[in-house]
Amino acid sequence: MNAKVELTREVRKLLRTAAVQANIALGIALADRTNLFKALASVGSESSPAHYSEVAKYGNLKPRYTKELLALLACSDIIEVTPDGDHFYIKDAAKEVFTSEIKDKSLAFSTFVPLHAAVFDNIAEVMKCEGPLGMDYSNYGSFYGIMDQFSIVIHKKHLVPDLIPMTGMKEKLIEGIEFLDVGCGSGFHACELGWFSFF
Ligand SMILES: C[S@@+](CC[C@H](N)C(=O)[O-])C[C@H]1O[C@@H](n2cnc3c(N)ncnc32)[C@H](O)[C@@H]1O
Repeated sequence: MNAKVELTREVRKLLRTAAVQANIALGIALADRTNLFKALASVGSESSPAHYSEVAKYGNLKPRYTKELLALLACSDIIEVTPDGDHFYIKDAAKEVFTSEIKDKSLAFSTFVPLHAAVFDNIAEVMKCEGPLGMDYSNYGSFYGIMDQFSIVIHKKHLVPDLIPMTGMKEKLIEGIEFLDVGCGSGFHACELGWFSFF
């Protein structure tokens, strides 16, 4: 096979993989939004996989769509399915990823995919030379909620105990200073730094 044909095949493979993974990410975000992972973790286990109708009932979801989404997640190796194709479970060791109170970082990544997809048409117009100069954040709809959730899972654990002491700002924050967080989202980081005033 000559180099050009090989490169073309490689690029096509990358494009197909990207498209498949993007659709899987949408499925993960949908399962997260509808609390499907939590429902599955509640009624199914490695020793007793749950029928999709039990998962649907527990999660107050339609059985038909519940089965479709569980099957997508199982085909993507995110969850497990039994040979009959109707019973599903999350491996016991992986349950925490889908059920922890503060959303798991890796799970949170998928929540950005539907957010970006929602503004696809707007961005396509903004890209054009003759198109609008930019796009208002309000077009994203749920942007701030998702951004906030993401920042919390990424930064909550380490911002105050680890990161701030490394910057040398801890003492100044305890003494009391004024600071400005430009582009602060819902203000999560500023609120966290406010805790220093109680030290
Ligand atoms: C990606 S979000 C990050 C939010 C926050 N810093 C965080 O990490 O959670 C970007 C933020 O910048 C704000 N922003 C974007 N363009 C801005 C502008 N021109 N002037 C002021 N704020 C802006 C948005 O409203 C949003 O709150």
